[in-house]
Amino acid sequence: MRFDIITVLPGLLESPFAHSILQRAQKKGLCEIVVHNLRDYADNKHKSVDDYPYGGGSGMVMQVAPFAACIEKLQAERHYDEIIFMTPDGETLNQSIANHLSTKGNMIILCGHYKGIDQRIRDIYVTRELSIGDYVLSGGELPAAVLVDAVVRLVPGVLSDETSALSDSFQGGLLDAPVYTRPADWRGHKVPDVLLSGNEAAINQWRDEQAIARTKDRRPDLLDE
Ligand code: ADE
Repeated sequence: MRFDIITVLPGLLESPFAHSILQRAQKKGLCEIVVHNLRDYADNKHKSVDDYPYGGGSGMVMQVAPFAACIEKLQAERHYDEIIFMTPDGETLNQSIANHLSTKGNMIILCGHYKGIDQRIRDIYVTRELSIGDYVLSGGELPAAVLVDAVVRLVPGVLSDETSALSDSFQGGLLDAPVYTRPADWRGHKVPDVLLSGNEAAINQWRDEQAIARTKDRRPDLLDE
């Protein structure tokens, strides 16, 4: 699996990929994450990649040519399964989309800024538009990092315990049951007896019941699905 992320702020993406599970996945060779500075594809000496919107209005719009030059250079090097644009008006990312993308090979992610990107980039190159929620961020970089994290942790071999991604909240359509660790009694707040019982069947039943109760309480919409 390989992600090529195109951005005007490559520095913003350094830290999220240099730690923990994403760092380990790259070190193990299970995924490659390459960040490209869109300004390297600007065709003017000021390295500007945006311009005023046709028809007037506030804000600048990111131009077609720099994105096209970067995408076409990458496409000449390898095949891409998806070209994803992170945008608040895209389809909302969920576990099922993350599962689907975890079966893909190479993907390009475009990060927008300013007022948006020229519609022709979306029409000509983009295969999928994703939002990470109904709120507006300053750019697509943090959403791109969220997407890569959600997808890469599902790639076989990335998590040390293969089953732990399968027991994540949402994975079975339910939220997770509560979890506890030592001490069993903290200031009189006790861990539920069943978890100390050693009775695996009873523990599994308790966890299922808790997951259903929590989902009913917090996200009844998941049960409708
Ligand atoms: N860019 C700005 N806000 C965004 C969001 N909520 N999701 C994806 N990309 C974005």
